[in-house]
Amino acid sequence: MSQRSVPEDLSAPAHSLAGVLRLRAFRRLWIGLGLSSLGDWLGLLALTAFAGELAGEGYAEQNFAIAGVLFLRVLPAVVIGPLAGYVADRLDRRWNLIVGDVLRFLLFASIPVVTAMLGSDGRGQALAWVYVVTVLVEAISLVWLPTKDATVPNLVPRERLEAANQLSLATTYGSALPAAGIFTLLTSWTQNLGSLFGPFEPSPVDVALYFNALSYLVSGLVIATLHEIPKGSSVSEEDRTSLWRTIVEGWAFVSRTKLVRGLVIGIVGAFAAGGVVVGLARVFVGDLGGGDPAYGILFGAVFAGLAAGMWLGPRLLRGLSRRRLFGISLTAAGALLAGLALLQDLVLVTLLTLVIGFCAGIAWITGYTLLGLEVADNVRGRTFAFVQSMIRLVLALVLAAAPALAGLIGTHSLRVNADLTVNYTGASITFLLAAVVLAAVGVSAYRQMDDRRGVPLHRDVIRALTTSPGIYAHQGVFIALEGGEGAGKSTQARMLARWLEDEGYEVVLTREPGATEVGTRLRDILLDPRTGALSPRTEALLYAADKAEHVDAEIVPALRRGAVVVTDRFVDSTLAYQGAGRQLRAEDVERLARWSTADLRPHLTVVLDVPPTVGLGRFEGSDRLEAEPLHFHERVRTSFLALAASDAEHYTVVDASRVPEQIAAEVRARVQPLLFRARPRDRHAEQSADPQGANP
Ligand code: TMP
Repeated sequence: MSQRSVPEDLSAPAHSLAGVLRLRAFRRLWIGLGLSSLGDWLGLLALTAFAGELAGEGYAEQNFAIAGVLFLRVLPAVVIGPLAGYVADRLDRRWNLIVGDVLRFLLFASIPVVTAMLGSDGRGQALAWVYVVTVLVEAISLVWLPTKDATVPNLVPRERLEAANQLSLATTYGSALPAAGIFTLLTSWTQNLGSLFGPFEPSPVDVALYFNALSYLVSGLVIATLHEIPKGSSVSEEDRTSLWRTIVEGWAFVSRTKLVRGLVIGIVGAFAAGGVVVGLARVFVGDLGGGDPAYGILFGAVFAGLAAGMWLGPRLLRGLSRRRLFGISLTAAGALLAGLALLQDLVLVTLLTLVIGFCAGIAWITGYTLLGLEVADNVRGRTFAFVQSMIRLVLALVLAAAPALAGLIGTHSLRVNADLTVNYTGASITFLLAAVVLAAVGVSAYRQMDDRRGVPLHRDVIRALTTSPGIYAHQGVFIALEGGEGAGKSTQARMLARWLEDEGYEVVLTREPGATEVGTRLRDILLDPRTGALSPRTEALLYAADKAEHVDAEIVPALRRGAVVVTDRFVDSTLAYQGAGRQLRAEDVERLARWSTADLRPHLTVVLDVPPTVGLGRFEGSDRLEAEPLHFHERVRTSFLALAASDAEHYTVVDASRVPEQIAAEVRARVQPLLFRARPRDRHAEQSADPQGANP
C-alpha cells in the first residue's frame, strides 16, 4: 500500500485529534463519514418510525414491523459481511465511496415517493419496500465502511493513524446524538406545520427521510472532491476472517481468564441492554402517549447518557477500584432499567433513560480500559475483534428479539381487586426481563472481579468521595517509574533523564528507597537478606521513613527550582508491595503512604508492566523482596495495574517486555506534553548565576 506524503503542518503531537484534522484530505473524508453516519442513524430512526406507522394501530403489528426493520438491518452484516469485504477490496475506492453514497441517497428518497404512489391501500407493499431498502442500504454500508477504513492510511501518516481511528469511532457513534436531535426537530416541525401543505401534507417521517437522503448526497459530493484517494482497489490482502470464525476462535482464549471473561460478558451485556431500550423505544413511547418527536428524544437520551458516561467515567470517583466501578455501573443500569419498565410518565422515562445511558457509558469505558490493561499484547487485537463481533451479533439478536417478544406478549390488564387494575404492555415486561439479566451480570461481574475484598463498598465510595485527590506541584515536573522486579525501571529512568537533559531541562534522577543518606541506611536494612523476616508493619514504616526524607530533602526542593524529577519508584510501590504483596490492610497502607509523602503525587506515573515470570528471570541477584514467591509478585503486578486503571490522566501503562528503545520512545511521547511546567536549564543557570535571583 503506498504511503502518500502529506504536506500539511504536522507540528501537533501525534495523538492530538485536532492535529489529524489539520490534514485536509483526512478532514474531507471525515466530513463524509460524519454525514453518512448521521444518515445511518437518521435512517434507523426514520425507518423504524415509518414501519411502525405503516403497520397500523395494532400493538403486535407495530412491534413486528419494527422488529422486521431492525432484524433486516443487521442481517447483512451477519450473512454477507465477508463478501462485502471482498467486494470492497476489488472496486475502485473513490468511486466505491461516491457511488455508495449516491445509491443510499436514491434509496432513502425513494421511500416517501413509493409510499405516495402506492396510496393508502398499498401500505403492505410500502412496508415491503421499506424492508428491501433496509437490506440494500445495509449491504452498501458494508462495502462503504471497510473502503473508508482502508483509505485512512493513505491520507494519514502512520503516527497519526491511532488518532484518526479514534476520531472515526467517536464520529460513527457520536453522530447518533445530532441525528436524534434532527429527527425530533423535523418530526415535531412537520407535525405542527403539516397542515400548511394542504392536500400534500407530508408524513412527519417523510421529511426526516428526505433529510437523511440528502446527508448521503452531500457526503458523496464532499468525497468526490477528494482526489488524494489512490486509484484502484484497496487490495488489502490481509485475510478477512468471517464474523463466526472471529467469535469461535476468540472465545477460546477469552474464556481462559476469569477476569477477561467477566469483562467481556459485562461489556456485551451493557450493549444488549442498550439494544433493548433502542429496539422498544418507538412502541414504548407510543404506549405512554408520545409520538415520533418523543421517540427521537428518548433515542437521543440513550446516546447523550452514553457519551457523558464515557467522558466522565475515567474521572469519576478517582481512587475507587475500577473493577468495582465496572460491576456497580452495570448493576445500577439494570436496576434503573427495571424502574423504566414501571414508570408511566414520558418526562421521567426520558430522564431515567439518560441515567441508564450514563451508567452503561461508564461500564463500557471502564470495561474497555481494564480489558486493554489485562489482555496480553499479542492477543489484544484478537480480543477486541472478538468483543466487537460479539457486540454486533448480540445487538442483532436483541434489537430484533426485543420488539418481537414485546409484540408476542401484547398488552394486558390485570385486575388485582375491584379498585385496582394494573395495565402492562409487552414493552415493559421485556424491559423488566432485560433489567433482571443485566443486574445479574453486574452482580456476578462485581463478585468475580472484586479486588478489594474485605473492604465494604460504602466505605470505599465514601473514601473516594472524601479523600483529597493529592497534591500536584505547580512548578517542575514529577515523574515516577513503577513496576515489578526486572521491569527495567532503572534503565528507563536513566534513558528518560538523558533525553530530558538533552532537551535542556534540569533533571533530578532519584530512587526509592535510598536517595538520601538516611535512606541509604534504610535501604540496607530493608533489602539485605541478612535482615531476615521483618514484621510487615515494620517494613511499611521503614519504607515510609525513607519516603518522608526523600520528599522533604530531595523532591520538593527540586520541583521548586522547576526541575524535572524522575524517580525510580514512589508511593505506589508501597501500596503494591506492602499493601497487596504483604496483604496489610489497604486503608492503613494508603493513609501511611499519604502521610509520609505529604500527599505529593507525581504528574505522571509510568507503570512498566511485565509478567513476574519474565521479570524475575531477567537477573540473578536476589534481595529480600525479590526472593518472595511468585504469587506475591503476581499480586504486586495486579495492584500496579489497578492503580493505573483508576486514574488514566496521571498514569500510563507501558508493555515492558519489548526492547528498551521502543519502551523509551513510548515513555517520551507521554512525558513530552507535561514539560511546559519545567524551566529550561539555561534560564535556570542564568538565574542561579545571579545572586539576587537565587535568593529572592
Ligand atoms: P529496586 O529499587 O532495586 O527495585 O528495589 C527496591 C525494592 O523495594 C523492590 O523489591 C520493591 C521494594 N519496595 C517496597 O516494597 N516498598 C516501597 O515503598 C519501595 C519504594 C520499594
